Order: sequence, then structure tokens, then C-alpha cells
Amino acid sequence: MTRKTLTQYLVEQQRRKQAVSAEVRLLIEIVARACKAIGHAVSKGALGGVLGSLESENVQGEVQKKLDVLSNEILLEANEWGGHLAGMASEEMETIHRIPNRYPKGEHLLLFDPLDGSSNIDVNVSIGTIFSVLRAPHHASGRDIEEADFLQPGSRQVAAGYAVYGPQTMLVLTVGNGVVGFTLDREMGSWVLTHKDIRIPEQTSEFAINMSNMRHWETPVKRYIGDCLAGKTGPLGKDYNMRWIASMVADVHRILTRGGIFMYPRDERPSGRKGKLRLMYEANPMSFIVEQAGGAATDGSERILDIFPEALHQRVGVVLGSKEEVERVRNYHLEL
Ligand code: AHG
Ligand code: MN
Ligand code: MN
Ligand code: MN
Repeated sequence: MTRKTLTQYLVEQQRRKQAVSAEVRLLIEIVARACKAIGHAVSKGALGGVLGSLESENVQGEVQKKLDVLSNEILLEANEWGGHLAGMASEEMETIHRIPNRYPKGEHLLLFDPLDGSSNIDVNVSIGTIFSVLRAPHHASGRDIEEADFLQPGSRQVAAGYAVYGPQTMLVLTVGNGVVGFTLDREMGSWVLTHKDIRIPEQTSEFAINMSNMRHWETPVKRYIGDCLAGKTGPLGKDYNMRWIASMVADVHRILTRGGIFMYPRDERPSGRKGKLRLMYEANPMSFIVEQAGGAATDGSERILDIFPEALHQRVGVVLGSKEEVERVRNYHLEL
């Protein structure tokens, strides 16, 4: 059996389809290598002393887990020296990370959620890493990169992906030419192409939402979930099933595998927080992947990839997955 590796896939994308440049190819290889290191640390668990929290809080106001910080450091170190980046941004860093002067600079920007699903680390449930790649704006060449250079809509992403650290370690990737999945061969240490063309079924009867937030939801979301719960005799005419892993990577991975709709909608909680998930390193990369797999992603009214970001850590409502179902939720928003 001939096995295609990530390296071979990327070389082909560069040579035959011109879908990636040499710089993006290097970038993805380096991110994938960093994910291998993170996955290794994750798999050690208590034996590696990586479980538990630190004293610190991140800019999101969340207590940082040891693995949040370790994963962030692994990604920073791996990506600093290669000459492929102009800068990085992360959930775990208040502001952008410039490439130190001792290294050459590249033309791309890397944004990441180093460890997604922090609340699942200590309970041995799937977690992951999410990343997004943008081009540095032309006018940024010859000067230091700034936060404003990162504030580009998701439609400008040149690549996006995630690694999921679960029963298998997988890397799911798009370079704007469909979605592919690689499984880590732990003995060989290589990413093997196991999912050649991932497509999300257009219809579904499975939803994912944190129901404990129901009292805060806007009316269209309350109506939609109410209709799902009504089952066969309700307006949607079918029985729905529910899943909520509370790691976006794992929930999105399930949707890429068997369809479904994932929602972390904006809501009306007293704190004034509009949605939980972050546009730049959660919503945008996942929306790019989902659209490339034939699904859809909206904040309720607007296509997520069309949103012009105003701040690096901006939060956004997220509704993504099977196309027909996402369309239905969007229509509920338009009607009310
Ligand atoms: P992170 O661990 O990177 O901060 O992200 C957690 C996110 C996402 O993975 C998940 O969908 C959601 O938070 C779960 O939130 P609840 O705990 O509110 O369900
Ligand atoms: Mn977090
Ligand atoms: Mn996350
Ligand atoms: Mn995170």
C-alpha cells in the first residue's frame, strides 16, 4: 500500500495546483511538527506533569492551564526561526508576537488557538490546536508588523487547519482546495493522508449547543432549538440528537465526519459578552474549513468569513456545519 504523507500532499499542491507557495508549504510543515510535539505532551498527561492550572489569567479573563501556555510556547519556538513569518498572534498572548530581529522575516501571519478545549484537558477528553494563515499586507513590508495588519476578514485566509488530540491524533487542513485529513502514525512520526476529500453532508438531525446558556439566547436561537426538541411531530418533522463535547475542535471534527450543526451563538447575557468564541483563531479557521467541505458558517446574520475584524481578540457568535441546517438558522434570524 502506498501511503501519501503531508509532505507529499503539500508538494503536489504546490507543483500541480499552485495552491500553496513554498513559504506556505514550509509554514504548514512546521505547524504540523509543533502539533506533533503538543500531542506528545498531551498524551503524557499526569506522567509528564502537564495537567492542572497556573496562577495566571490570559487576556480573555480565563485561568491558564499548564498546557495552554506550553502549547503556546511550542508554537512560538517552532515558528520563529524559519523565515516564513512576519508575525504571530494567539489566544494566550495579549498582543501580537513579532519575529525577533535575529531571524529573517517572511510574508505570512500565523494566528492560533494553541490548545482548544482547555476545560477537557484534566478529564482526558479530546482537545486540539487551531490555526489560521494570512498574508502580511504589502504595505507592511520593510517595517515592523502591527496588530492592525492582522485585522483581515477570514475570506483572505490562505490556509487553515486544526489538530485534534483524541483516540487518534489527526490534522485537518485546507489550502483553499477542499479539505483533507491526516492521521499521525505514532511509530513513524509521520502524518499520513487518510481522509482525501472531506465533505459535510448537507442535511442533518444532530445539533451541538451548550444548553445551559438557553436563558441568554436570542429569540431565533430559542425558536430553532425549540423546534429541534419538538421532534417528529414539530415543525422540522424529524427527531434530533444532541452532542456537546465542549472542545470546538472535537465538535467540528464530528461535524466534518458525519454532519451536524454547531452553535455557540451570540447572546444577551448581562455581562454584555457577545458570543464566546474568538473570530481570528477559532471562528475564521473553522469557517474556512467548513465552507471548503461544503458546509456553511454564519454569526446569525452575516457570513463569518466576510466579517471585518475590529480587534485581535474579538468574539463572535458562531453557527456552522451542514449547509441546509445553517441556512435554516440564518432564515430564523432574518425573519425575526
Ligand atoms: P478554549 O479552551 O480555547 O478557551 O476554547 C474553549 C471553547 C471551545 O473549545 C468550546 O466550544 C467552548 O469553549 C466550550 O464552552 P463551554 O464551556 O461554555 O461549553
Ligand atoms: Mn481559553
Ligand atoms: Mn478554543
Ligand atoms: Mn485555547
